[in-house]
Amino acid sequence: MDDLMVVILAAGKGTRMQSRYNKMIHKLAGRPLIDHVIEGALDLSDKVVCVVGHQARQVKGSITRCEAVEFVQQDEQKGTAHAVWQAEDYISSHRGQCLILYGDTPLIRQETLMKMIDIHRKREAGMTMLTSRLDDPTGYGRIVRDEEGEIREVVEEHDADDDKASIKEINAGIYCYESELLLKSLGLVDNDNAQDEYYLPETIAHIKEVKPLASCRAEPDEIIGINDRQDLARAENILQERIRSLHMKNGVTLIDPERIYIEKDVEIASDVTIYPGTVIRAGSIIGPECYIGPNCQLDQARLGREVEVKQGSFIIASQIGDEVKVGPYAHLRPGNEVGKGAKIGNFVELKKSSIGEESKVPHLSYVGDGSMGRGCNIGAGTIFANYDGENKHRTELGDEVFIGSNTTLVAPVKLGDGASTGAGSVVTDDVEERSVVLGVPARFHKKKR
Ligand code: UD1
Ligand code: CA
Repeated sequence: MDDLMVVILAAGKGTRMQSRYNKMIHKLAGRPLIDHVIEGALDLSDKVVCVVGHQARQVKGSITRCEAVEFVQQDEQKGTAHAVWQAEDYISSHRGQCLILYGDTPLIRQETLMKMIDIHRKREAGMTMLTSRLDDPTGYGRIVRDEEGEIREVVEEHDADDDKASIKEINAGIYCYESELLLKSLGLVDNDNAQDEYYLPETIAHIKEVKPLASCRAEPDEIIGINDRQDLARAENILQERIRSLHMKNGVTLIDPERIYIEKDVEIASDVTIYPGTVIRAGSIIGPECYIGPNCQLDQARLGREVEVKQGSFIIASQIGDEVKVGPYAHLRPGNEVGKGAKIGNFVELKKSSIGEESKVPHLSYVGDGSMGRGCNIGAGTIFANYDGENKHRTELGDEVFIGSNTTLVAPVKLGDGASTGAGSVVTDDVEERSVVLGVPARFHKKKR
């Protein structure tokens, strides 16, 4: 929308979070609060201005599409009206509407914002505000309406007497203004209230004198303003429910959905089954017909089709081919590539390693900085000793290598196709293809036929 610009308020510290970090960088579904709001704003307009102040550098740094946003600084947090004023230069050069969003209100649906902008245009309003009805309105500004049902004012919790405090219609902190009128009315707001702040909703009084004031109703689950940790937990529950139902609509089976946690930016194909206690973090892509869980964690994991990740396994930044079996209790640290049909069994740790198709590391092994071809079998207790105390080295296995139980492969070392080691070997030198080595340190035993 060309005639729409967006100003996002994110300069406050968020004292009620009781945190050393700015409220805006606390996460919801794996993403900073501010990032949710910015993403929604950029969907509506390419003119997005964000007002930052407290820990500005960290707040900016937490935004994914930082380069698409203009930032202005509010050095002292003197209230929401004062915050908007910091964007004066941008607002004054804009013809049309200015949408104001609070950075701590990330659950708003795009449809609701569109509906609000539509009402604003149809009514040719000077300002349209988003309101909602809450059973418990504690903490929010209350909407006071006159006998005709028109909005008269917003009374903040701190300034409300018992009568006004009992009003259940609240201000969501989302407004659409005529830009020109916004600037004029901001100039008229004072700080004569319990908190000595310049309140943005105070602009209502001035706008009403010039143009109609409209309002739009939002659902309670989209207007939660996150002020403290309880709000954060409530918002997370709501967002999780939305994320899970989206995946279920797409054909994913979630067993006991409330016990499954899925961040934003996760792709899950249809006919995947996920068991309780599982956490799927951002950047993960799961192919069709996989089984995951219970109690697994995937973080930037990319799974092909029909992969099984069993009980208690943890996969980070790794690529897993079709029909692979992982776990129970496997730990895949970043940088692995596991080929089709391979098996990474219980109590196996993998790091920066590539495992060829149909290769098996079934139990109790550490494979670090290694590579193996297809059809290898790694005996229980095998260690890829990749670290000499100063540097990391690689271990390279060809195809169909057979490693006996409790072998230590001291890197750098290479084993050719079809090579074997006896149980308990400590391999310090390269092994030729089809050779069998044994002992400590391992010596040539025989050539296979
Ligand atoms: C505000 C509204 C209240 C509404 C509620 C909805 C005002 C005066 N009150 O109250 O009517 O019901 O939101 O959630 O607007 N901010 C700045 N600079 C400042 C002050 C605030 O950038 O000087 C930012 C904050 O970072 C935050 C947002 O504005 O993202 C709202 O501020 P907050 O202090 O949370 O306002 P509430 O008390 O929740
Ligand atoms: Ca708030």
